[in-house]
Amino acid sequence: MKQEYLAEPFRIKMVEPLVLTTREERERLLQEAGYNLFLLPSEAVYIDLLTDSGTAAMSDNQWAGMMLGDEAYAGSRNFHHLQSAVKEVMGFEYVLPTHQGRAAENILFTTLVQNQKEQYILNNMHFDTTKAHVQHKGAKPVDLVRDIAFDPVARDPFKGNMDTEKLEGFIQEKGVEKIPLVMLTITCNSGGGQPVSLANIKAVSAICKKYGIPFFIDACRFAENAYFIQQREEGYAGKSVSEIAKEIFSYADGCTMSAKKDGLANIGGFLALNDEELYRQVQVWGVLFEGFPTYGGMAGRDMEVVARGLREVCREDYLRYRIGQVQYLGAKLLEAGIPIIEPVGGHAVYLDAKRFLPHLPQDQFPGQALAVALYLEGGIRGVEIGTVLAGRDPETGEHDYPNLEMVRLAIPRRVYTHRHMDAVVAAVKNVYQKREQVKGLRFTYEPPVLRHFTARFEPLG
Ligand code: F0G
Repeated sequence: MKQEYLAEPFRIKMVEPLVLTTREERERLLQEAGYNLFLLPSEAVYIDLLTDSGTAAMSDNQWAGMMLGDEAYAGSRNFHHLQSAVKEVMGFEYVLPTHQGRAAENILFTTLVQNQKEQYILNNMHFDTTKAHVQHKGAKPVDLVRDIAFDPVARDPFKGNMDTEKLEGFIQEKGVEKIPLVMLTITCNSGGGQPVSLANIKAVSAICKKYGIPFFIDACRFAENAYFIQQREEGYAGKSVSEIAKEIFSYADGCTMSAKKDGLANIGGFLALNDEELYRQVQVWGVLFEGFPTYGGMAGRDMEVVARGLREVCREDYLRYRIGQVQYLGAKLLEAGIPIIEPVGGHAVYLDAKRFLPHLPQDQFPGQALAVALYLEGGIRGVEIGTVLAGRDPETGEHDYPNLEMVRLAIPRRVYTHRHMDAVVAAVKNVYQKREQVKGLRFTYEPPVLRHFTARFEPLG
């Protein structure tokens, strides 16, 4: 197939108008929002790259499915559709629907982390909510990704891989009884959306089996990860994404899923697994936290959307477009000499704010300052992943400075065209040209927890 003939594999049959505000309006809006982009009204955002979560455009097939929503409290047909989609795409026997991904995490950890004494959950890299749920259960989250993941420009096809030596070393040092489960996050969001190889998934699974530790996958972006395996891993070029996805999950005892990403849905999630006894246990917590086990916090119509989305997301023409669009944005920025995290991952491009704004020390929040500057320039909303997000060290009270100061430009699925990406590139380039003028920020209000969501700032003089 000729590459140049491949356009977006869909046509658009409904549109939502976008309005580009004026620079003066954005100046005022920023002031009103305390220079916190979470506090902007979304109508005032031209291109919204805050997250790829819950922001997908549904297909006609998904919208049609909504009409088939069977809103029964128990045993709705849509639950059965969801169950068969999970079985078909992932291979798991049992599924417990939840209102979103973190609710599945809550149920899983509540069930498996019982001994409050000294417990560790091992992951390549925990996503924030996963980390918070682990801590909430009194366990310690431990990230065992290979060191290369922390180097912003080291190119590696599978930068999300777990360090299996570290994993086995940790299990031997602490003892099996202190490790209720091991997880792999695919793709590795906190590491820049970097994929994990099948060889690594297999190796982690083998170690878990050897020690009798349950192994779960955080599957939010499983189809994007499977596509990277097909494109990059030896021996998988001839396999379909569906086959690869099935193989991935065949090595795990279960998964937590945020259907807001690779479920192509605006809300929803689930916990899926194979063990009947464990399914009985998680149901108990599911009823308490989410709802009856056949709806678990979701409407019938939303379960239908997820069931259909799980099949659609494995389509290779879609994934070629999806991953291609993220790579396109990354390549254009690199061409313009913009410092980004390399290689580009599956769902987002990350600007490297330390190299972008070298004149701003970390206590002036270069990531936040860059996100604000990009909104002011082009009405584009990204999100700071840096010192503001990291918060303070609970013992010293100092900012918990992370290695990387980043602005994540996460691309919603099937929402924007390549022309929108060109507009993003143009705005980033213009900010880069004027980068010396970008001022640092200081807090005018700093909430005690999860400060990034509601903090307010002012620019330094
Ligand atoms: N795991 C990963 C890897 C995630 O990226 C997220 C959400 C979750 C779990 C939690 O799922 O939001 O449905 O409860 N990530 C979003 C993001 C919020 O913007 O990256 P949820």
